[in-house]
Amino acid sequence: MKLIDEQIEKYCIEKSNVPSSLCNDLELYTRENIHGAQMLIGKMEASLLGFFIRAIGAKRILELGTFTGYSALAMAEELPEDGELITLDINEKTVQLAKSYWEKSPHGKKITSVIGPGLESISKVKGPFDLVFIDADKRNYLPYLEKSLELLSEKGMIIIDNVLWSGRVVEAPSDSEDEHRNTKFIRELNDTIAKREDLYGTLLPLRDGMFLIKKKNY
Ligand SMILES: C[S@@+](CC[C@H](N)C(=O)[O-])C[C@H]1O[C@@H](n2cnc3c(N)ncnc32)[C@H](O)[C@@H]1O
Repeated sequence: MKLIDEQIEKYCIEKSNVPSSLCNDLELYTRENIHGAQMLIGKMEASLLGFFIRAIGAKRILELGTFTGYSALAMAEELPEDGELITLDINEKTVQLAKSYWEKSPHGKKITSVIGPGLESISKVKGPFDLVFIDADKRNYLPYLEKSLELLSEKGMIIIDNVLWSGRVVEAPSDSEDEHRNTKFIRELNDTIAKREDLYGTLLPLRDGMFLIKKKNY
């Protein structure tokens, strides 16, 4: 299911602040050489993350799901000089590629990579974080959300990616067991957030769906 018309998306990207040419090179390299490149957030989503980073004055970011480092670099580019981004992933190989690009960027020094299962790594990192971007294994989205809420600063927000799962959340279950399971995890996550009165959530139909979440403090 296509959520945004391609021509409209192209126009929006042309008129928006988007990541650097180095980020663009990393995106192209990933698309041409790495399996699973469709997992990259892409320019439109990167632009929105950059907007939030600047709007809330984020200084510390936690990311779940580094992949080849595109979203981490795109976010680091919008952090202030003394900003910090910690990114967690289980795949050492793709993170090696990420590091080779971060090293070429003046913003790379803001990024720290932690390798290991996300649930273990997130229990070891120290908050508070102003922005948590969740974009790793779908089955753990709910525990990641719970952990992230504990690590959030007063002004902090959480953004969860792929919450429309290519539109499958509104379709009948597919035959593929794996896809079906992931759809179930995502639906459970979305239902949980929708029911929680202590959270303010906005499910944005941008790209594959982004859930924007803030703790209500009044
Ligand atoms: C959607 S990709 C991240 C894309 C990245 N945020 C970007 O846009 O450039 C998901 C990543 O989650 C990682 N992942 C999968 N299972 C994981 C786990 N249990 N713990 C940590 N990371 C995991 C994968 O290795 C993959 O790199």
